[in-house]
Amino acid sequence: MIVLAHVSDTHLDGGDRSAERAARVMAYLNELPQPLDAVLITGDIADHGLPAEYHQAKTILASRHPVFTCPGNHDVREAFRAVLLGHDGGEGPINQVHGAAGAVFALCDSSIPGRHDGFLTDDTIAWLEAVLAETPERTPVFVCFHHPPVMLHSPFIDEIRQYGEQRLADLIARHPNVMATLCGHAHTAAATTFASRPLLVAPGVVSTLSLPWERGDDLDYELPPAIAFHVLDDDLRLTTHYRVVP
Ligand SMILES: [Fe+2]
Ligand SMILES: [Fe+2]
Repeated sequence: MIVLAHVSDTHLDGGDRSAERAARVMAYLNELPQPLDAVLITGDIADHGLPAEYHQAKTILASRHPVFTCPGNHDVREAFRAVLLGHDGGEGPINQVHGAAGAVFALCDSSIPGRHDGFLTDDTIAWLEAVLAETPERTPVFVCFHHPPVMLHSPFIDEIRQYGEQRLADLIARHPNVMATLCGHAHTAAATTFASRPLLVAPGVVSTLSLPWERGDDLDYELPPAIAFHVLDDDLRLTTHYRVVP
């Protein structure tokens, strides 16, 4: 069984409010009685992509569990790489593969420098294709990125979703061992499908999306932070629990 905590959109900006909320989430996870197989943080780690924000993130997001992070539209690749990953790598997409508990986590960079919408470059698609080709057929894979590649029925978020998604859908369709796609960006706990697999959206730590039929299509800063736990059991059934962090 694999137990994964899925966190997203901490938007650390050097201020106390975002820091307190991210710290509260990490304290909740760090104080769990059992180790998690991984903590996945799907982007918008920093709010402005400043090195100082990543230094703050490095401190706050430190955990006794393995932590995997990918960038979002508010992140800046150079500073993300230098501070969070500890290496120089230029301005290209930050694609990473991690293993945990017998599963593969392929973290794809869906950000486009200077823009808020998302796209997986041809290089990133080729990288993911190689990762999937190298992974044994019976090994479960989670494909992770920031931008949801489908409409979530929020005009605000749908406008800046991930585009060019057919290439990703075609690739996933050829690999039955992809258990799910995991993303953030929408600041709302949501579950749908993509390429006939679950597409699970982590709620936002810094804020929560208000839907058009609620208080309007905007961000709510009053609701508490929330996270998801994804559980993959030995029969490869995937269960998600969404948890508000008090
Ligand atoms: Fe965000
Ligand atoms: Fe975002």
